[in-house]
Amino acid sequence: MTAKTTYETLKLDISDGIAVITLNRPEKRNAMSPAMHVEMADLLEDLRYDNTARVLVLTGAGTSFCSGMDLKQFFMELKEDTDAYNRIFRIATEWRLRTLRYYPKPTICMINGYCFGGAFSIVEGADLAFAADEATFGLSEINFKMFPGGSVSKSMANLFRPRDALFYGMTGRNFGGQAAAEMGFINMSFPLADLEAETMAIAKELAAKDPIALKAAKEAYRFSLEMTSDAAIAFASAKEAEVQLLQNDAWRKEGIGDFMAGKYRPGLGGHEGDGESSD
Ligand code: COA
Repeated sequence: MTAKTTYETLKLDISDGIAVITLNRPEKRNAMSPAMHVEMADLLEDLRYDNTARVLVLTGAGTSFCSGMDLKQFFMELKEDTDAYNRIFRIATEWRLRTLRYYPKPTICMINGYCFGGAFSIVEGADLAFAADEATFGLSEINFKMFPGGSVSKSMANLFRPRDALFYGMTGRNFGGQAAAEMGFINMSFPLADLEAETMAIAKELAAKDPIALKAAKEAYRFSLEMTSDAAIAFASAKEAEVQLLQNDAWRKEGIGDFMAGKYRPGLGGHEGDGESSD
């Protein structure tokens, strides 16, 4: 199945196994409008079954990654229509906190500029995040007499250190890419000029790994967060059996087997071409 390529609020480019989804409302600093939430939910559903996309990269057009929820279209224009508001709230919450988090393929945020409020839940929902040193992060809700509502407080609780969560949530102060990396909210920051090349190199690295093993790596980590140790170990054992079955034991035959045959050293790099061979 191939994903549709034309969207009103998004742009999709797929090449070399990497799908780049660009939030594409630069004139509104990529604020998440109701239409964007609906399109994103549809696109993520399509890409789930598109074998040409093995890794997803989310970024923003222009000077902004995402300026959060569209304050006008979501909070003002939908406020009288409870059903429409609830529907968009559910879709908006689901694609960031559930779909991205448990997506069967690796997901990466490439934060090229402004990142405010509701955009924190995109960053938190993705597996990896890289930002420009020059990016501007902010929990700006307090500045308009609100607090980080919806999914945002939970996203902060998941990834922020307690003092940082309350400091930035209560002051609304901005911070840059390097501070975001020091806090552990993102993996790394790079000068803006290098951000795309650095992020795409990591995306390519992931696209060359075995997709079945990558999916299991995500699931073993994410589900174990909510399990007891005994349950997590039992789950991981069941996952190992699943991986072995789905790969036809490739991890033993090719993975360990080729190491035993002296063909490569797993400690120093990957088994070549795993992304393509296991599709
Ligand atoms: N919702 C709706 N519209 C937004 C928006 C948002 N979150 N962020 C920016 N826009 C719109 C502006 O209203 C403006 O629209 P207009 O051209 O029709 O007047 C346009 O995008 C450009 O914004 P502007 O403020 O002129 O750009 P800037 O580059 O000077 O500043 C921001 C960019 C992001 C710093 C600023 O727009 C801002 O503070 N936005 C709100 C961020 C926020 O609080 N987000 C949290 C939401 S949960």
